[in-house]
Amino acid sequence: PLHDAKNGKSWFVKPWTSFQAAASLPDKVPGYERVHVIKRTYFTISLFTQLRDLNSSQEIFVKSARHLISIILSEALNFVPFMPKIVNTPVDGATYTGLEMTDVENLCVVSILRAADSMADHISHHLPGLPVGKILIQRDEKTAKPNVFFKKFPKNIQAKRVILVDPMLATGGSAAEAIQILKDDGVPEHCILMVCIVAADEGLQLLTKRFPQVRIVCGEIDRGLNSQKYIVPGLGDFGDRFFGTN
Ligand code: URA
Repeated sequence: PLHDAKNGKSWFVKPWTSFQAAASLPDKVPGYERVHVIKRTYFTISLFTQLRDLNSSQEIFVKSARHLISIILSEALNFVPFMPKIVNTPVDGATYTGLEMTDVENLCVVSILRAADSMADHISHHLPGLPVGKILIQRDEKTAKPNVFFKKFPKNIQAKRVILVDPMLATGGSAAEAIQILKDDGVPEHCILMVCIVAADEGLQLLTKRFPQVRIVCGEIDRGLNSQKYIVPGLGDFGDRFFGTN
């Protein structure tokens, strides 16, 4: 199951053929080839309940968001290469056959400012040294077109796998703009792994239609958007609740 055999050219492919690790990939979302949603457990549902509760304090919101980010990223990292690694344990000369993340020097993160910094910071904490690019995109109120206000990507990004983070995939407008800019800078679509916490079907449809090779991992998928383009049931403005600016 760790193989992505049908897609030999994907960078998010497992490099070994003779080793099967007992790990499972996040479930595929029916109707989509490359959209995955994390395993639902009672615990993840309880974290989403805290995150979505309008009465949760900023402290509870940040705590549950951080926990979910950790779980979602851990599932998303199934798509980067690992190699088998055998280590000796301190007990009776026993060995353990495990894995080691490989080719980390060709991995980077791109954060769609500002809310995604919550996710990028988490990755930086656990995988220190990983380059983190930033992009600030805002929608023009009059034209509804996304404007890019700031962009700084790691050097040589066209040769890297890119984990693109954005907690809320709503219309998909900003994510699509970010992916287009990455493509314009030479990053192949199949080297982009988009990770979000909550996704609306509208956003998934837009991204998968425009960029069929991009892989997407999300925490939960919500039923839609309201007239102000907030995800419903959603959780409100993620950035405002996380950073306490609401
Ligand atoms: N961004 C958010 O923070 N929340 C939404 O519901 C949609 C976009």
